[in-house]
Amino acid sequence: MAVEGIDPIAASAITLDASQERALGLFGEGSNVALFGRAGCGKSEVLRRMIASAVAKWGSDAVAVAALAGSAALLVGGQTLHSLFGMNTRRLSRETWLRETLLRPQVCARLNALRVLCIDEVCTLSSSLFSRLGYVMRRVAPPHMQHLPFGGCQLVGAGDPLQVAPVHVTDESMDRMVFDCFTWRSVFDGGAGKVACLTGAHRQAQDATFQNALDRVRWGRADRSTIELFNATSSATFSAPATKLRILKSAVQDINHAKLATLPSLAHVFVAHDVMLSTDPQVMDEALTSLRSCVDVSFSVKVDAPVILTRKVDGVAPGTRGIVRDVIQNSVIVEDEEVLVESVMCDFAGVRVGVGRVRFSAYDHTGTEVAYSEQVPLLLGWALTVHRSQGLTLDAVEIDFTLDSWTTCGLVYTALSRVRSFAALRVSGLRRDLIRASRCALAYYEKKLVEEGINPVDDGRPPVVG
Ligand SMILES: Nc1ncnc2c1ncn2[C@@H]1O[C@H](COP(=O)(O)OP(=O)(O)O)[C@@H](O)[C@H]1O
Ligand SMILES: [Mg+2]
Repeated sequence: MAVEGIDPIAASAITLDASQERALGLFGEGSNVALFGRAGCGKSEVLRRMIASAVAKWGSDAVAVAALAGSAALLVGGQTLHSLFGMNTRRLSRETWLRETLLRPQVCARLNALRVLCIDEVCTLSSSLFSRLGYVMRRVAPPHMQHLPFGGCQLVGAGDPLQVAPVHVTDESMDRMVFDCFTWRSVFDGGAGKVACLTGAHRQAQDATFQNALDRVRWGRADRSTIELFNATSSATFSAPATKLRILKSAVQDINHAKLATLPSLAHVFVAHDVMLSTDPQVMDEALTSLRSCVDVSFSVKVDAPVILTRKVDGVAPGTRGIVRDVIQNSVIVEDEEVLVESVMCDFAGVRVGVGRVRFSAYDHTGTEVAYSEQVPLLLGWALTVHRSQGLTLDAVEIDFTLDSWTTCGLVYTALSRVRSFAALRVSGLRRDLIRASRCALAYYEKKLVEEGINPVDDGRPPVVG
């Protein structure tokens, strides 16, 4: 089954705005749809509705939901693109990729069965990766469908071209932004599809001044007074600890471990239960690398530690922040034997949930599970990488811009736009030269707004800064 964790009931609790309804309508008519818009305009929300309606119509095997990063995929109940396409992350030419895919009948059958493919955070893909996906989809399709983009599979992409650009892609690089290729144009710019611009500002709906300042950062047009507004939050205090956003994983680990050490309670250590289902050393090696990228070998936690959920548990969405209240042991009977199972009792904004181990799987080139790891789906919440935070709404964030290198286009905007208001930010050291937007992304986005009949000024484009 290609889709996990879709909850159509939860998805229906919010009333969509007019731009979201319009995009949903286009999807219902069978169009390919790219959902563009600022952080928090509700792209992922619409994507979830589309997924729910496609699953109801075609069945779950005909619908795949994916993202490049595992953390982004989890937010919409999907899988990584590489696991969907049965590929590891080696960079292959399109012909080699196709040849390897054709050797795997199960992968071909799975891709062939797809009627709808949804990719969240699609702007984190480079144009070369997107083109290769399209090529493979076309070539595994039945002969009479091979002339169609993605072999006739309906495609939905959701993303913000003005958030952080793909790794190694700049305005000058050979590889380009995802929308800057023939495959993208044939899917979304021709008769078969449309780029739908969502114009809402839902995450920041309660703080218009914050939304306005964020739009200035998003368009790379932050003036001195906007920067001052952000830096003025430097002495903010919060009732619960704010999440520090950093760029490097090693910095995040150091902060979390140091903070954990300051808590007086006893540490509970959850060692990952890794199970290998293959004996091939090379397959095992790759499987282990893939597992370690999403599951730490040991997770230590204490009562009162802040945590972030990475999988949906008891209706609580991945990305939700909570506080550990207790670690409990339950005895359960497994195959006539009594086994002690530990769960972390967490408080997620007043909702108490017992978080136990879940299964994280690694797949080989045929799409077969070759190893899995059982671990609690939690991260310590004192610090998080910006990369992992993309797509999340966080309750309170702290960023010291004098640490790390923030000059990548869209990175500052991605980090600042995780919260709902100025009251949820503690920022220091923000400078104008760190706020950069890709020229190529701005030009494409503006063009799409105008084509949609939306005045870019009405969608938050600020005046040029002198
Ligand atoms: N039409 C809407 N009305 C109210 N809240 C919404 C609406 N659409 C989305 N939201 C909420 O706004 C926040 C951001 O939505 P999300 O889909 O994650 O945005 P994006 O993917 O565009 O960054 C989420 O908390 C979501 O539930
Ligand atoms: Mg999103």
